[in-house]
Amino acid sequence: MAKIPGMLGVHLLDPERGPIRVGALTRAADGSTSFTVAETYLRNDDRPIISLAWHEPNDDGRTRDRLADRDDKIALHGSVPPWFAGLLPEGALRELVLSEMGPGDHDQFDVLTRLGADLPGAVLIVPETEPAPSAGPLDLDVVAGFRAPDPKGVVKFSLAGIQLKLTANVDGEKLTMPGRGESGRCILKLPSERYPGLPEAEYGAMKLAEAIGVNIAPCRLVPTSAVEGVPTDLLAHGDKVLVVDRFDRTVEGDRIHIEDAGQIVGAIGDRKYTMATTETIINMIRRFSTDHRADILEAVRRIVADILLGNGDNHLKNWSFRFPQSGEIRLSPAYDIVPTILFLPKDTLALRFVGTHQFATVNMHRFERVASFLKIDPKSITREVITTVKRAVDLWPEAAPPLLGEKRAGALLGRLSNLPLVKEAATAR
Ligand SMILES: Nc1ncnc2c1ncn2[C@@H]1O[C@H](COP(=O)(O)OP(=O)(O)OP(=O)(O)O)[C@@H](O)[C@H]1O
Ligand SMILES: [Mg+2]
Repeated sequence: MAKIPGMLGVHLLDPERGPIRVGALTRAADGSTSFTVAETYLRNDDRPIISLAWHEPNDDGRTRDRLADRDDKIALHGSVPPWFAGLLPEGALRELVLSEMGPGDHDQFDVLTRLGADLPGAVLIVPETEPAPSAGPLDLDVVAGFRAPDPKGVVKFSLAGIQLKLTANVDGEKLTMPGRGESGRCILKLPSERYPGLPEAEYGAMKLAEAIGVNIAPCRLVPTSAVEGVPTDLLAHGDKVLVVDRFDRTVEGDRIHIEDAGQIVGAIGDRKYTMATTETIINMIRRFSTDHRADILEAVRRIVADILLGNGDNHLKNWSFRFPQSGEIRLSPAYDIVPTILFLPKDTLALRFVGTHQFATVNMHRFERVASFLKIDPKSITREVITTVKRAVDLWPEAAPPLLGEKRAGALLGRLSNLPLVKEAATAR
């Protein structure tokens, strides 16, 4: 169907320097879209990074070539280019947004037009032409000095991911929906009809991961009755919501840029499981992190935590980089750690790890192989694996039951003692 042509300005919000215009995303009448990087951004010697997909450390010439390259900045048939698609909701949240947009044909450009004022990270997308009616009912408001849509409905923000979630602010005991032009400082992960007790299981896994040294996004369980301003049917499937502090927002409400590994490789939809492997993630950390030694060890602890907890959903979009300040690129805190085997007992690792998806075939030797592929000292990696496994064996028998309940904790701890990685760590010196 023919679409109304339009243009969106793409900016990065920098608390010190103000908004920096990165370029424009346009839609043609045939529904195709194209992102063009602004000449002012290209020529800015001190440009903030929008994506590591278009960044070559210490080589500004190649960075500019990547920014100017067209191949990954166009999309046909109602899609937006992969990096932008990676900012948008997927499953249940996408359905909710589409229902709030009303009847009609809404493409990704429409969703981005509607939700562009409150996106993941520090990117702000605002209309530079009149928003098309296909962006759904909205008012216009002022955000960072720009005329920006204020959608009518519950969902005024965009977050990636399948599960239903909202953003909120903490007000004493209550969780309130952000006001006009505001962005929420936490994410509320709502109970799910399909997976009973999911917020509780995720909370337990996050805390168990933290206990073995993983740097997690701070989170807690809150009664659903504390959530205000949300239709009650969204909260109907359980007593608790998981509240996670956002690492891409400051307490003052400023934005910190982030992007996920799926955006970096341009993986859309289910390709977040297949387009790259765990080794790709470690290699990205080595290439881009400004403290790659610390972040590689952090990644190793997360991989170990996934294996020990049975998290089969750590795909490319569950690994993110964060840009805390100019010149700094770090692995973000960990999020979305779910013991999926409690819900899907046959589940396997989301991303391939040195040739396997099976939790039970991951052994010390595979970690040594990763280290040698990537020319990292294997001893430093295996030492980290052993320490992390030993912490789990020492701490989880006591920590898991109050976090997960006896039944789930029993399943998790029973599985632990049979894992090859645990047996090997027990005999390692
Ligand atoms: N603490 C956080 N701060 C900032 N952004 C976050 C945080 N936690 C998650 N995100 C972002 O929100 C997205 C969705 O969160 P999350 O992965 O927890 O949801 P999900 O719906 O369970 O995902 P999935 O589809 O992997 O099951 C993440 O991909 C990440 O971009
Ligand atoms: Mg996720």
